[in-house]
Formats: sequence, structure tokens, C-alpha cells
Amino acid sequence: MCGIVGYVGPNSSVAVLLGGLSRLQYRGYDSAGLAVLGSDGVLETRKHAGKLKILIDDVDASPLVDGQTGIGHTRWATHGGPTDGNAHPHLGDDGKLALIHNGIIENFAPLKQELLDVGETFTSETDSEVAAVLVGRAFRETGDLTLAMRQVVARLEGAFTLLVVHQDRPGEVVGARHISPLVIGLGDGENFLGSDVAAFVEHTRRAVEIGDDQIVTIRPDSVEVTDFAGAPVDTREYEVAWDASASEKGGWSSFMRKEISEEPDAVYNTLLGRVLDGAVAFPDLGGLDDSVLKSIDRIVIIACGTAAYAGMLGKYAIEAWARVPVEVALSHEFRYSDPILNERTLVISVSQSGETMDTLMAVKFAKEGGARGLSICNTMGSSIPRESDAVIYTHAGPEVAVASTKAFVAQITALYLFGLHLAAVRGSLSAAEVSENLTELQAIPAKLAEVLVASAGIGELAGWMADTRSVLFLGRHVGFPVALEGALKLKELAYIHAEGFAAGELKHGPIALIEPGQIVFVIVPSPRDPSSLHPKVVSNIQEIRARGARVIAIAEKGDAAVLPFADEVIPIPLAAPLFEPLLSVVPLHIFALELATAKGLDVDQPRNLAKSVTVE
Ligand code: G6P
Repeated sequence: MCGIVGYVGPNSSVAVLLGGLSRLQYRGYDSAGLAVLGSDGVLETRKHAGKLKILIDDVDASPLVDGQTGIGHTRWATHGGPTDGNAHPHLGDDGKLALIHNGIIENFAPLKQELLDVGETFTSETDSEVAAVLVGRAFRETGDLTLAMRQVVARLEGAFTLLVVHQDRPGEVVGARHISPLVIGLGDGENFLGSDVAAFVEHTRRAVEIGDDQIVTIRPDSVEVTDFAGAPVDTREYEVAWDASASEKGGWSSFMRKEISEEPDAVYNTLLGRVLDGAVAFPDLGGLDDSVLKSIDRIVIIACGTAAYAGMLGKYAIEAWARVPVEVALSHEFRYSDPILNERTLVISVSQSGETMDTLMAVKFAKEGGARGLSICNTMGSSIPRESDAVIYTHAGPEVAVASTKAFVAQITALYLFGLHLAAVRGSLSAAEVSENLTELQAIPAKLAEVLVASAGIGELAGWMADTRSVLFLGRHVGFPVALEGALKLKELAYIHAEGFAAGELKHGPIALIEPGQIVFVIVPSPRDPSSLHPKVVSNIQEIRARGARVIAIAEKGDAAVLPFADEVIPIPLAAPLFEPLLSVVPLHIFALELATAKGLDVDQPRNLAKSVTVE
């Protein structure tokens, strides 16, 4: 939640900050603001409720005094509605200090009362303004912005990233992080801070991770990092694997449309360099070497949202191949369910951002409980991999649209790779069986490209459904998570009531929802599937058809059995059963995008949502 950017250097801070904010908008977009320290030595702020465009237009119409030091913020409201007053930055020290905040300060109420009691006044309903006033007071006493920050963070509870600038400290931005994310960008005679590397990748690909409970002070030619007690800490520099153009729309009408078109590449790149001579080749699984993997007797996959559906698919594959029991839990439920954990439990967290607070807290909890941790993550330098024994990065590239698409297929790919690796290590699959499955996986990118072509007509289909108020999705076995994902996407993007069901459950309740005209998507398993699922799903289609449903089947190319019963069939190429979801999900991503577009909605920034949910 909330995007944060800070800059010191010779260039126009307004331009750098607005550029950074436009790349961070996916983190929150209900208000935006800047504070810049002008070359005249005066701190100026500008902030507005609404999307970043409102702020940019305002700055264009009436330029801010420009200087070489500044901070910028794009907000996802927690305390106080999305109003101009609640937008960041917030001021302290009689307007000489500006602060931006990501996270939640849980003890803000007593702190605010304490400040009110000594005569401070507040102009917003936010928890963040309390931090601004506190740092302002501490600076007035110490004259040292870093020290002031250190004194204040010691009093704050919750999760936070804070950045501050003070007009008496030109060329200096001080940041602090406790649980919420913060990364440094190293430039030449300039330095940056950001919630993630997207904030500064246009200017530099050299990044430095800041650990939890650390404070950073950047100046044009220095970066100092200490812990909350003031002791210097070692930092690790790394090179960002993608450049600014990778996160730009490149002619597409939306990031989501671009990212769906990148689903084949996301799978391809996640496999790249990881399959060698018919075996999985993970160069480094850190603390999860073969002896540890052999000792595992239970796996729990934790994730939220779309990543949790990738986790459900991981369960089917890992259990089938490695014969280890796998549970899937929503991170926020897992942590509070008193789970049984020990060193033979492997907790696999799945997260595109690597910052989802529910998942991060669950990962830490599992670690404290003695479990082993594997992170499947798309964002280098993020917090969740750092808390894990090993990480498998998905190489989907930067995902900007709030609703996850290409990261989903990359997560499934990474989970499948791990499942095959585990099966090889534990001897539950022969080398030939592993190789056969890897060949299936390697064929997916080309098949995905075919699906994209075959899905060209979905726009028209969605067009005539623009007024529909409810859509149901049915699937069995691996088709079930796909149904859930199809429904989630439609809720997120088109604001339509949508539910995904296990098709077998239909007769136990959901069939009561079927009335004439009800649109139902059915994910049909392959007729070649040795289990008897195909005829069962065809029977389910007949049952709902008999009650007037309008059926759209996603079925294997050439599946003649569904043709007489479906109103529309979206064909997908042939694939082994476990691999079908990688193909069948794409038409559902496209359908949600097209329906939302037909309704005139913003597909990249759906209302009330944020891409990186860094609050619990
Ligand atoms: C948010 C996003 C979803 C995403 C989920 C998990 O809710 O809107 O698209 O699936 O977070 O995010 P993560 O970064 O952990 O994969």
C-alpha cells in the first residue's frame, strides 16, 4: 500500500518524484502529494485527493518551486478518507518538515493525545501526521534529522516506512522502515529511496536492500544505513533485473492488456535456465538442500488472492508428483489458526510483490515456529524472500496492473518446477517421468501464444454481456482454482457478482442460483483425461443448461462432447491434465478485462484495491 519516493541530487526533484510516483501508482491511487525543498531554501508541498493526474495537472498549471531534494507519495487510505487534507506529505516543525508514510501506526491515538495535551494541532485524521509532528519536535531539540527519526521510531508501534525532509537540511532525505518496504537506488551524484525499485529504475538499476528496523540517510554523494539504535549495518547492493521500459505500456491500451499478452513470456522466463538435460536445475536453493527436502513430511502453501489459487494448483501437482501432503492456507487465516509446525514442515509462500503484509507476517510466524521456508516471489529485494530459507524467483517481469495475470502463470510454473525437483530428490518420480513433465511445461509458452490468438473473439462476447449482474464459474480438480480465479478477476475489475464453484458441489446448493439467462463459464477437463472427470463435467453442463443457463465452455480443441450443450466454446490446445490451468485461465483473464473495458472501467486501477497490500 502507498508508494513512496525520495530524491537528492542535481536534477529537478519535481520531475524525478512525479516520474517515480507514476510508476508506483499501482500501490495506491486515491491521493498523491509532493514536498520539495526549493533552491530558495523553502519547503513547499502540494497534494490532492484522486489520481496522480490531478496532482500532475496542478503542478503543470502552477509549478512548484523546484529544487534538488524532495519526497513523493501515492496513497491507499487507511486512517482517514481520501481527501486533500489526509493526503501526504504531512507537516511538522511549523511547516518546515514534511513526512510521508506507508503502513499503519497502531498506537497513534495515545501519541496524538499526548501531542494535543502539549498544544500541538492537527489538520488531518491520519496516523501519519502524528509521526510528522513527533519528528518535527525531535528535530527542534536535536537539530539532527537522522537522530530525530531514531528517537521517534522507538516510540511507534505497527508497521511503517517513513521518509522526511526538513528545510534546514537541504540535500538530505531520511527514511526508516519497520516491516513495510523501502529500497535505496544508487546514482552518480544522486540517490533515491523507493517503496520498490519501480520508483527509481528509470534513473538507476543499482539498488540496496534496507533491512527491517533500519534507518537510512541519503545525500547526493553518500548513503548511511544504521539500525534503530544507531549502529551502522552492512548492506547488500544488487542490480535490478529489468529496466524502465519493461514497466511501461509500450503502446498497449492498459498495463493489464500488456501483461496478459506477456503470459507466454512469463512462463518461458520462469523456466529459463532451470531445465537441464531433462531435469530441474535450481542453481541455489539456499537452506533447502536435498537432505532437508528428503526430511520434509508436510507442506503448507500460504498466499493471498490470486497467488493463493496458484498455491491450490501447486498442491495438486506436488502431491501427485512428490507424494507429500500439501495444505493451502490463506496467509491471514494460517497465522491465527494455531498451526502445527516443526522442522519437517515446509511453508511455501507465494507472492508477486514479496510485500503482502498478511503473507510476510505468516512467513515470520512459521519461521518462529521452526518450519522451513521457501518463497516464490516476483520481486527481487522484497521482504518475504529475505525471511525465507530459499527463494525461487518467478521471472514474470514487473507487473503493474493491480489484478495479477502474468505473475499467476509464472507462480504456477515455479511451483510445478519445485514439485518436480522435490519428486526427483525424493525418488517418487523416475528421471524419465520428471523429464516428460518438464517437456509438457516447456511446451506451455507456445500453447499460451495460441490461446491468445484463439481468444480474439472474447471482446465481442464480453460486449453483449456488459449489463450482466452475475456470472458463475465451474471447474473440477485443477479446473476449480481456475474457476475461482475467473470469478475473482471479474469481481476485481468489472465489479460484478461472480462466484467460482467446484462443479461437483453444484447439486449441493449453487444450482439454486441458476435461472434462465444466467451466464456460467465451465472449465472442461480434457476428454483424454484418464479419470472420469470429463463426462461428469459434461453432465453438469447439461444440468445447468436444462435450467436455462447460458454456458460458455473452455474446452480442449476438438472436444466434440461439449459442442451440443455449450452456447459458446473457447478452445484451448491439448495439454496433460495438470498443465491445463496454465492455458484455461487466460481466456478468463481476457474476459474480465474486456467486460470491464465494455463497462468503461479502469482495468489497471480498480476501485478500492491496491496491488501491494502492505497492511494487515
Ligand atoms: C492484492 C492484489 C491481488 C494479489 C494479492 C496478493 O490483493 O490485488 O492481485 O493477488 O494482493 O499479492 P501478492 O503480491 O502477495 O502476490
